[in-house]
Amino acid sequence: MSEENHYSAPQRLNGRVALITGGARGQGAAHARRLASEGATVYAADVLDEVGREQVQAWTDEGLDISYLHLDVTRREDWTDIRDHLHERHGRLDILVNNAGIIDVGPLSELDPEVWNCILNVNLTGAFLGLQTMHPLLKEGTGSSVINTSSIFGPSGAVGYSAYAASKAGLLGLSRTAALEMADDGIRVNALVPGGVSTPLNEAEKDGGVIPETPMARRAHVSELAAAVAFLASDDASFVTGTELVVDGGFSAR
Ligand SMILES: NC(=O)c1ccc[n+]([C@@H]2O[C@H](COP(=O)([O-])OP(=O)(O)OC[C@H]3O[C@@H](n4cnc5c(N)ncnc54)[C@H](O)[C@@H]3O)[C@@H](O)[C@H]2O)c1
Repeated sequence: MSEENHYSAPQRLNGRVALITGGARGQGAAHARRLASEGATVYAADVLDEVGREQVQAWTDEGLDISYLHLDVTRREDWTDIRDHLHERHGRLDILVNNAGIIDVGPLSELDPEVWNCILNVNLTGAFLGLQTMHPLLKEGTGSSVINTSSIFGPSGAVGYSAYAASKAGLLGLSRTAALEMADDGIRVNALVPGGVSTPLNEAEKDGGVIPETPMARRAHVSELAAAVAFLASDDASFVTGTELVVDGGFSAR
């Protein structure tokens, strides 16, 4: 899968302002690059400050309009700082990608409640805080679009992933409800449902993770998810809200 195929995509996001959580690496970094390459002014936000700043420097050297911001999605004060920063600079936000996520694998019977809370806090509460704090800026946006990154372990269960699956299922309910509540404000809210994707998140997975159950028999390249995010963020998806875009190589077709 060549990245160049995607980066020559049309300029659908000229003038749009985008914020991507977990934007320092993995899928979030691919989304940042793709949205900027389609003309958006992008803010990649993460807790991995060094990685994020180095990545942003490389993008800036390529001529892409991407800045780095520190954001721990579990901290409301981090979100309000960014809201104030974006309000001062742009007066609005057009695209919010709630992508930050963490994982822990082990049987439910042995799961430490602190780990449970931590996963729910980052994966689900983080997106809730993003939607709530950015709502006033998204209301001022053009074709405003929120994309919440769920997982194939949201609609289905997965042995050893109780907290992760619960958080990703919760994101589907949050996305649908936010879509209903925010439609009047001109804000679309959708969930992205990736299958296995090659990123640092799953590099420790044994036996290829979900590859054996994936009809296309591979993990996705991050650019394949970024293309889906760019679609949902753009006016090509102007009548798409409250739904899920599944990008999983056929995993869910079983
Ligand atoms: N990789 C996969 O196979 C896969 C499949 C389905 C869904 N997902 C989801 O895709 C999203 C992106 O994951 P990825 O695969 O790119 O993994 P990744 O680990 O490379 O990226 C996750 C990013 O989130 C950031 N992050 C973690 N906690 C944070 C916090 N409190 N505040 C801000 N940022 C934080 C990390 O620093 C990292 O940069 C996650 O929500 C993940 O659950 C991944």
